[in-house]
Amino acid sequence: MIEVRRQAPQGRPLADAPPSVLGDPVDFREKALRRKLIAGNWKMNGRRADGLALARDLAGRAAAEPPAAELLICPPATLLMGVAEVLAGSVIALGGQDCHGDLAGAHTGDIAAPMLRDAGCSYVILGHSERRIEHHESDALVCAKALAARRTGLAVILCIGETAEQRDAGRAHEVVARQLGGSLPQGLGAAELVVAYEPVWAIGTGRTPTPADVAEVHGHIRAELKRRVADPAAVRILYGGSVKPGNARELLAAGDVDGALVGGASLVAEDFWAIARAAG
Ligand code: PGA
Repeated sequence: MIEVRRQAPQGRPLADAPPSVLGDPVDFREKALRRKLIAGNWKMNGRRADGLALARDLAGRAAAEPPAAELLICPPATLLMGVAEVLAGSVIALGGQDCHGDLAGAHTGDIAAPMLRDAGCSYVILGHSERRIEHHESDALVCAKALAARRTGLAVILCIGETAEQRDAGRAHEVVARQLGGSLPQGLGAAELVVAYEPVWAIGTGRTPTPADVAEVHGHIRAELKRRVADPAAVRILYGGSVKPGNARELLAAGDVDGALVGGASLVAEDFWAIARAAG
């Protein structure tokens, strides 16, 4: 467990700290624990030729100019093994987009966490709103999947976020807290957990919350994490929903934003790379 104290260097309490530290709502040492993560969610896009070409392009850029942020791409299952070969030796990590709650068995069409691991994945996205909505995934089901991922050694990117109706009704905080509480297994820590705040109304729409709105929800998620994980200050919280090269810098600079989960823009090498560079 990572011990975090809200103190300035040399153990001085924050009240005695220089103004630059006082002006920052998050202890800079907490921030230092969280290297930004830029994750590309390719969703149901990409065939062998264009998917491998995209991975090759990104691997080439990362080799020529190693990014400050951690980079991850999550192609569809059919491309995982091919992309893994392309990424061999690259700093770019590979992730799946979903897994089953069982580790193997009679589940036609599903993919198990150990299969993702075997294909070269180190992450898996779980609880994405497209799965919650299109496949009626409940918090309990997402929790079972997260347990399977954990048993397999995959880090989980747990997606949560409110619909437009829920936001308009002032229920965004309540919704993300409920999703977090219901889909987060006990005992998961920063080493194996990333939370992605993805307001459903921002996904694929070109609309985004303001950086201040994002910071506000992320702060709430961080507070909820304090009740649920041993090392809440070290857990990365990504923002996702219409992140583009043009808005990435300001969204990534918002308080408690530790990276981005990128959909559409992750399918264009220049755009994904520009977002990665915007992370610092
Ligand atoms: P988008 O998707 O960037 O295309 O809005 C984000 C996501 O669903 O992860």
